[in-house]
Amino acid sequence: MADGSSETKSSNQMWGGRFASGPDAIMEEINASIGFDKKLYAQDIRGSIAHATMLAHQGIISAEDKDKIVHGLDTILSEIDSGAFEFSRRLEDIHMNIEARLAALIGPAAGRLHTARSRNDQVALDFRLWVKEELQKTEKALTGLIAAFLDRAEEHAETVMPGFTHLQTAQPVTFGHHCMAYVEMFGRDRARVRHAIEHMDESPIGAAALAGTGFPIDRHMTAMALGFREPTRNSIDTVSDRDFALEFLSIAAIAATHLSRLAEEIVIWSTPQFGFIRLSDAFSTGSSIMPQKKNPDAAELVRAKTGRVNGSLVALLTVMKGLPLAYSKDMQEDKEQVFDAAESLELAIAAMTGMIRDVTIRADRMKAAAGSGYSTATDLADWLVREAGLPFRDAHHVTGRVVALAEQKGCDLADLPLAELQAINSAITDKVYGVLTVEASVASRTSFGGTAPSEVRKQIAWWRARN
Ligand code: ARG
Repeated sequence: MADGSSETKSSNQMWGGRFASGPDAIMEEINASIGFDKKLYAQDIRGSIAHATMLAHQGIISAEDKDKIVHGLDTILSEIDSGAFEFSRRLEDIHMNIEARLAALIGPAAGRLHTARSRNDQVALDFRLWVKEELQKTEKALTGLIAAFLDRAEEHAETVMPGFTHLQTAQPVTFGHHCMAYVEMFGRDRARVRHAIEHMDESPIGAAALAGTGFPIDRHMTAMALGFREPTRNSIDTVSDRDFALEFLSIAAIAATHLSRLAEEIVIWSTPQFGFIRLSDAFSTGSSIMPQKKNPDAAELVRAKTGRVNGSLVALLTVMKGLPLAYSKDMQEDKEQVFDAAESLELAIAAMTGMIRDVTIRADRMKAAAGSGYSTATDLADWLVREAGLPFRDAHHVTGRVVALAEQKGCDLADLPLAELQAINSAITDKVYGVLTVEASVASRTSFGGTAPSEVRKQIAWWRARN
């Protein structure tokens, strides 16, 4: 049997490196969250001030102690704001770092702050406050992105471009209409954000460790003071619930997915082959070796950020899956996912808003592409139904033959001579040329939500009144 010291030595060699000092170092490393939860300092201090004020109001602590606590917390807030505060990993997390500093500043009164609460409801409060503020920021950012799209849509309500399905030219649409599709998508994201803010607008503080407390606290008072609608109703659920974080991440994942689709279109449209748009220098880079290139880096990175955001959602879902009620330390792993996703989403929305505002629209290229690929074939079929009384299936067949003829001659539908059209179907008259242009095609699509410029302007007005 090895003696105690040599056993310690060989174990240490196994742990190695930075853990050379043994189990204490490993425990500190795995247990501490101060490295990331210091982000919650303002929320932690705000929550503690509300809690202490309530405790004094209820006669649980003295007014004198409350004043000392509040004053001390204000001091700590400015110390952290100014960068003077020294965070200690030995003190584990933001809650204990602040409490220890409070004790150093005001003495024994600091020990009264933690009456009738636990770190379980404290962290639930801090994090919820943080997520709520982040959602409010996200709402503003999405409003800015929607505004950018509304401006571009207005400018280009009449600009014709090819509409795609399967990324194959389908029917002509307007660029304004295409922009408004994104307004709908980001509008839904914003609606989800607003709903989530309402959903999570309940104060966790006072749930204590999990069972509530015997002290005569007033949870409605702290809820009001912290800007919540009401306190949460079940203390067990309160300390084990991270739905607000999961909702944030789900919303972020859907929004990031929308952003990635837009980013992909920007990447495609800015290729020389498409040439629908020209990106500003601000949001693209040159190649170090190929002087002709302009790369859509910002769009590509927005597209890629979606991976991080989606990853964060899956990570937290996996952390929470199967956790028994109520609090488990597993839940400490919630914050980094949310912080990272929030940072990525904020940046992606900002970059996209900038790109949409800056991008040059090449209307000539869009129009030329809109006319290629026999994009008005459906208009021809519709015309045959409307003006020549053909059943749609027959009209579809006739149109197919007309398209084949144009293909064989290597020309557009509008370039086919009337005689040749009539040879395919005698009911065709020269009026048909009125629907074969892309402008006529888009102008005719006046159904609610359709691509006609008149309809797109109505959609813009509807959104302007709500943005
Ligand atoms: N740092 C912890 C977290 O983020 C705070 C709560 C700790 N509670 C406890 N009972 N150990 O989850």
